[in-house]
Formats: sequence, structure tokens, C-alpha cells
Amino acid sequence: MSDFRADGYAAIDWVARYLEGVGDLPVLAQVEPGELSAKLPLSAPEEAEPFAHVLRDLDDLIVPALTNWQHPRFFAYFAITAAEPGILAELLAAALNQNAILWRASPASTELELRTVDWVRQLLGLPDGWHGHIEDTASTSTLAALIAARHITGRNVVVCSEHAHSSVEKAARMLGMELRKVAADDEMRMRADGLDLGDAAAVVATVGTTSFASVDPVRELAARAHEAGAWVHVDAAYAGSSWICEEERWSQDGVELADSLVVNPHKWLMIPMDCSLLWTSRPEELRTAFSLTPEYLRTADDAFALSEYGPALGRRFRSLKLWAVLRCYGRTGLQRILREHVRLANVFAEWVEADPEWELCAPQRFSLVVFRRNASDEENERILEQVNRSGEMFLSHTKLDGRYVMRLAIGNARTTEHDVRRAWDALNKEAGR
Ligand SMILES: Cc1ncc(COP(=O)(O)O)c(C=O)c1O
Repeated sequence: MSDFRADGYAAIDWVARYLEGVGDLPVLAQVEPGELSAKLPLSAPEEAEPFAHVLRDLDDLIVPALTNWQHPRFFAYFAITAAEPGILAELLAAALNQNAILWRASPASTELELRTVDWVRQLLGLPDGWHGHIEDTASTSTLAALIAARHITGRNVVVCSEHAHSSVEKAARMLGMELRKVAADDEMRMRADGLDLGDAAAVVATVGTTSFASVDPVRELAARAHEAGAWVHVDAAYAGSSWICEEERWSQDGVELADSLVVNPHKWLMIPMDCSLLWTSRPEELRTAFSLTPEYLRTADDAFALSEYGPALGRRFRSLKLWAVLRCYGRTGLQRILREHVRLANVFAEWVEADPEWELCAPQRFSLVVFRRNASDEENERILEQVNRSGEMFLSHTKLDGRYVMRLAIGNARTTEHDVRRAWDALNKEAGR
């Protein structure tokens, strides 16, 4: 067995070097499909190898096949950051290897999870008394919310906006529920008028849609849904983190009426993948939908089992990274980063607006800019594909009324105005070609 301490120091050195130099790597992986597979042995080694071989192959094989999500010019999808205290906490969580299937299996993990999720509730200005726990992703959180909705209402229809994330449709499909997509208005907000909710199990409202960061009228939707006896689930997977800044809480209007809410700190609160928070104002009903305790898990100490609030029994120690990042940044540290991201998005949006060759395609919200070149769809696609291929930066796209549009999402703590300027220059250079 190799020397754990020496290997550990080497691994930390490796991580420090990676983070220091990530901005010099290509953002988008510069490999062809199958290129890494061709270099990997077809089966596991027969005999033990030193850990140093793993680090060596990390450099030689794995890094070239990485799309670097920690890169300051990663602007695609929703850009994210794994902050250093969270990275170290993941190491500690692996070392402790807790599996909080019930309270006695890990009192520490169970109670720290409840407390840290409640810290986030307070930081985001959410109502007192909500129960929150951690799931892996928003997809799972939304699936759990819809399971509860169906269980409680006995109905089978899910209603959401045409711009809701595909995880809503996927959850409905997995559950065999019918999905009803509602048209959005000119600002990409779900229309609340004329909704037929008579048979709805759940209405899913989104705060910060994936394509445009638009905000559904949660208050009105919640009022109508509750009148019809439906469960209200709010998907604020991306934008919910922004509520740590009071000036972004305009988008929280009506969220206090939700039956469940998902926010992903792994999207915009500097927590390493994965960490999705699911709160409910109806914890007993959520629990009823999931609670199933086999004999071998029955205990005399009748304490909290977070596995009774979601699909998974095994639960890893995710709260450790939440705890570490919240403590090492504090409210003000996180606010500073998010405010800078919003500022940078506004700066970029101003450049777009001021240039007649470009067009801002959606109202400016949070840290996302949706825009396009005044040219054909093919030309927009060509420009984006070329700048992405260059490795200089990585943006993603979507479609708006059938037209190809680009999305620049700012969410990496290393991103500076210089990076945003480089992205703008690269796009213009490619467009002028
Ligand atoms: C609004 C919204 N909801 C849900 C999701 C799905 O998140 P996850 O990957 O955590 O399942 C996304 C992903 O970007 C999103 O933007």
C-alpha cells in the first residue's frame, strides 16, 4: 500500500496547480469522441499500482479530455464554481464515508444537513419553519416534489411553462404523469390567465428559466393552483442563489406560497457538484409520500431520518461542503461574488446593446445574457461553434421563437471583466471573418 500522506500531499499539490493554471487551459475539451476511450485499458489492472500513476495519467489522459468548468471563461449552460473550502470538504466527506440512511447511522451528517440547509434558508430570506434537505440535483428534487404532489392530490397532471427545464418533463414521464405546457408571454413568463387547473396535481413555476432566466409570476400561479387544490413547486435551481443579495429578491415574489422549492447551491453558491436543496412548507406530506421503513432500519431512538423525505436511502455527507463554504466566505463574501457576476453580465449586455451588429434578445436578468448577431441563424451558429472550438471560451445557445440565440452565463468566481472583454472581442473577431 502506498504512503497515504505523501500521496495526499501530492494530490493537494496537483489540485492547487490545476486551479492556478486552469485559465490557461482550453475551456472546451479539444478531443474527438472516443479519443480518451482509445487510450484507456480495456480492463482493470491485475496487480496494484502506485497512486502516483493515477496522478500521472490524470495529467496525460484525463486533463486533455476535460471541459474545464472551473475556467474563468466558461460561460455555457449555467457556469459554476467549486470553491476551495468545498473541495477540501469533499475530501473530508470521502474520508469519513458517512451514509446517513437514518439518524443513528450518522447523527453528524443528519443534523449538520438540517442546520446548514436552514442557514441557506435564512441567507436567501425564505420563510421560517420550512423543512429543507439536500438532494443530488434539481432533477431529483423536482421528481421528489412531483411524487409528493401526486401522492397528496391523487391527480396525474403536471402544468408548467413552455420554458420550464426539461427535468420537469422527464420527471412527469418517469412518473407516467401527463405534462401540460403553458405558453409564455413576451418576456418568457408563464401565462397565468386562462389556466385550466381542475385536474392538476402540480403547477411548476420557474424563477430563472434555463434559456432566458425569465421569472414566472409565482404569486398569481400559486394562488390559482391552490384554489384548484394543486401542489406548487418552484424551480429556482439557478436564480434562487441570487436571493442572498437583497436587490435580487424582487424575483422571490410569491415564493413564500410554494409547497416546495428547489435551489441548487452547486449552480451559483460556489458549492462543488452536487448539491441541490429541496425545501417544503408541507414536510409531513412530503414525508408521507416517501416514508417506508423496513424492519432492519427500525430503531428505538425514533429520531429524524432524512431518507424519509426523498427517493434515496443512502445519503452522502454533502452538508460538509455547504458548511465549509458558508463559513469560509460568509454572507458578505458570497454576496460580493454574485454581485460582481451580475455586474459583469450587465457590462456585456451594454456592449451588445450599444453595437448595431448585435441584438439583445431577452430582458437582462441575473448573470445571463441572451443575444445574437444581426445575421442568419447559420452565421450565428458558425460564430459560436468557431469560438468554442478555439478553446478560448465556451458559450451555449438556445432558440427563441425558432431563432438561434447565444447565451453568456457568468458564474465562475475567477471570471473578471478582462475575461468578459476577451469573450466579446473573440465573438466580434469571428463575426468579422
Ligand atoms: C432552471 C433549471 N432547473 C433545473 C435544472 C436541472 O438541474 P440539475 O442538473 O441539478 O438536475 C437546470 C439545469 O440547468 C435549470 O437551469
